[in-house]
Amino acid sequence: MARTKSLRAAQVQTSVSTAFSSSSFATLFQGDCLDLLRSMPDASTQLVVTSPPYNLGKPYEKRGALEKYLAWQATVIDECVRVLAPKGSICWQVGNYVNAGEIVPLDIALYPAFVRHGLKLRNRIVWHFEHGLHCSNRLSGRHETILWFTKGDDYTFNLDPIRVPQKYPGKKHFKGPNAGKLSGNPLGKNPGDVWILPNVKNNHVEKTIHPCQFPVELVERLILSLTEVGDLVLDPFAGSGTSIAAALKNQRRGCGAELMPAYIEVAHARILQALNGQLPTRPMNTPVYDPAKAGRSLTTNSWSAPYPTSSQSPDQYRLLQERLAYQEAQ
Ligand SMILES: C[S@@+](CC[C@H](N)C(=O)[O-])C[C@H]1O[C@@H](n2cnc3c(N)ncnc32)[C@H](O)[C@@H]1O
Repeated sequence: MARTKSLRAAQVQTSVSTAFSSSSFATLFQGDCLDLLRSMPDASTQLVVTSPPYNLGKPYEKRGALEKYLAWQATVIDECVRVLAPKGSICWQVGNYVNAGEIVPLDIALYPAFVRHGLKLRNRIVWHFEHGLHCSNRLSGRHETILWFTKGDDYTFNLDPIRVPQKYPGKKHFKGPNAGKLSGNPLGKNPGDVWILPNVKNNHVEKTIHPCQFPVELVERLILSLTEVGDLVLDPFAGSGTSIAAALKNQRRGCGAELMPAYIEVAHARILQALNGQLPTRPMNTPVYDPAKAGRSLTTNSWSAPYPTSSQSPDQYRLLQERLAYQEAQ
């Protein structure tokens, strides 16, 4: 507790360093992550958490041959492994590379770049969200993954800070030696490896100009479980600075690189907000917004009309008929 307080006091006084220094609480390097990584000592980082470009031709990346992209990622991963502390973790959050309608899950493609260093995969976390592009010739993508690797078998993992409420908190053992006692852990349950967290779209409280932000909550789960107070968290592809800000919010040190000046500006502002305890966030474990429960008029559309009508398109009409038939059969 005393350590937390002194860290908080020190944070309020610090500014944001632009180059790595082991005494900085917050480092935001403007430039290529390989330059930042090569300036860092071996074993200096407890957690590397990042989402790299996916080679899709987004505004912040140049699309190229997949093999070239994977080779570049492997070079960055080599450096991340070098700066990783013995009890540390790497969390690489990725989706799909898409070429002419064919998808390549990047976690599968990048897995060998980690295991060739002897890293151990502890979880492949599925992050499920509700919003994204609507595909017409395949199912719309509604998940991405986080590969969580540890450097060794002795690694930091604290479950209690990330427990989620039990489904039936009052449930008790019904018979046996524990009859009458609570059957679940009163601190909550293990969150599992499927995380349902809204992605940061336009009306999200954390939204900035960056097109692909991490939700703070997602990084916080990793930081709280895989690091201790005062540890260093590194994001080589810092974007809007979410990982650094989430680290500072939780009394860890944060460090990251970002190429684009516009995102550096956003990241800098968010880091300062975090240092001053003013970072806007969607609180951890808030239930995902359910418009139907909220009683919004927007949810009353042609799909919820009781009967098919002639104003609907043939497809809507057919689907409504099928739905009615299904409801009647229940
Ligand atoms: C998927 S985004 C990361 C977003 C971030 N997780 C956030 O919460 O805002 C990837 C970022 O990597 C940056 N980037 C691309 N190549 C880079 C490089 N070689 N070094 C540093 N940053 C790079 C891009 O500009 C982009 O902002």
